[in-house]
Amino acid sequence: MESGITFDFENIRTDAVGPEHGVSEKELARLSEPLAHGHERLAQLRESGEVAFFDLPYDKENVAQVKQVANEAAGQFGAVLVLGIGGSALGSIALRSALCHPLYNELPPARRNGPRLYIEDNVDPVRLKAVFDLIEPAKTLFVVISKSGTTVETLAQFLFIRSLLDGDLRNNVIVVTDAGPSTLRGIGESECRATLEVPAGVGGRFSVLSPVGLLPAALAGIDIDALLAGAAQADRIRCSSPSAEDNDAYMAAAVEYILYQKAKRISVMMPYATGLVEITDWYRQIWAESLGKTSDVGPTPVRATGVTDQHSQVQLYREGPNDKVICFLGVQHFQEEVPIPPAWESSEAIGYIGGHSFNQLIEYERIATTLALTDAQRPNYTITLPELNAYSVGQLLYMLEIKAAISGELYGVNAFDQPGVEAGKALSYGLMGRKHYERAKQWVMNKQAGRDETSVDEMVDEMK
Ligand code: PA5
Repeated sequence: MESGITFDFENIRTDAVGPEHGVSEKELARLSEPLAHGHERLAQLRESGEVAFFDLPYDKENVAQVKQVANEAAGQFGAVLVLGIGGSALGSIALRSALCHPLYNELPPARRNGPRLYIEDNVDPVRLKAVFDLIEPAKTLFVVISKSGTTVETLAQFLFIRSLLDGDLRNNVIVVTDAGPSTLRGIGESECRATLEVPAGVGGRFSVLSPVGLLPAALAGIDIDALLAGAAQADRIRCSSPSAEDNDAYMAAAVEYILYQKAKRISVMMPYATGLVEITDWYRQIWAESLGKTSDVGPTPVRATGVTDQHSQVQLYREGPNDKVICFLGVQHFQEEVPIPPAWESSEAIGYIGGHSFNQLIEYERIATTLALTDAQRPNYTITLPELNAYSVGQLLYMLEIKAAISGELYGVNAFDQPGVEAGKALSYGLMGRKHYERAKQWVMNKQAGRDETSVDEMVDEMK
């Protein structure tokens, strides 16, 4: 159990891809001081409670509440529908796809560890209606997740399901939100089945190991203890050192930082396991919102899927601009071993395939792509999970969080805020007629009519 995930940085070294596109020992050595400094600063942020995701693996109180709420709901509902967006949805989507059966919702009840689990993180009206072709509101547990309690998309979804429940939320709705007083919290406490807390100091995109990710996971029968144990092991052992040599999360941050200075501004994550694909989406948010802060800082995270995107993206990655660093994700032991049955053995085109397994095929294709990219001097590294289970996923998520946190220190940006999303939010509020956002609505009208206006940031500042 204690061994866990491994990182292989061989193909990122100058020996493998040359000095222009690789990372040398000297370049790494130059980062040892900034890393040590960043390590200390993160420790202070942790100590002060300002940034609290670090301690989520040990948060016994919240875990006990999650289990209690999940146990009380057991056997009562045919489906769970999570309403949330961004950090309030991507973690549970990632956990569901990594740790539930790949077609979990389609399985008959006896083969599932809980009710069907839907997570709706958009406001497309067609999609929203479509879910209700599959679920019956009265037999569904709705989990409304919004840390701030003010997110228009989630609140609109909430209003929609409230009307489907004829305003009676006592049996079917659980709210997950900040501890502080808010309208959503008030509704949760006075009208809903239960209200769980996003602990203070835990930002949305760092909340997967809080009730935000744990409650949907527990409802779907995921082993949240093992998930947290993996994360705790990553914290105590894998990420405890300030030195990149002993801390793979820091090494991953350091090599990507060095390569960013060498014009590798695109950070591709390419999992070779379908269960890991949604983790890539979760990671995209943490990378983009944590680091995209000034016009000269912000590696662009890109999701690619192995092997599928070998037939779509790899041409570009191998022969197009050398502006990417690629992180492959692999799994050592898949839960299934599926042989490829032999037939037409004398055929040169097909005969060689039978007798292998799909496990070999996906692994060989990962190796082949890695080597082909390295040969073309495209820097890449590989993270391997021993198998796709709650413990190794806990380790992976935690180490990717630490990678983002320490990267903020290297790039000199605050990894824990997201001021850039405020402008769009203010404009949407204005258009939806929210009180105190009249100026935002006027700003949009003026813009649409081609009239002169201030910048949107100035307008937002004016409204404060
Ligand atoms: O990471 C973030 O802070 C955001 O992506 C939020 O999670 C997202 O905007 C949803 O916010 P909330 O949970 O407050 O509804």
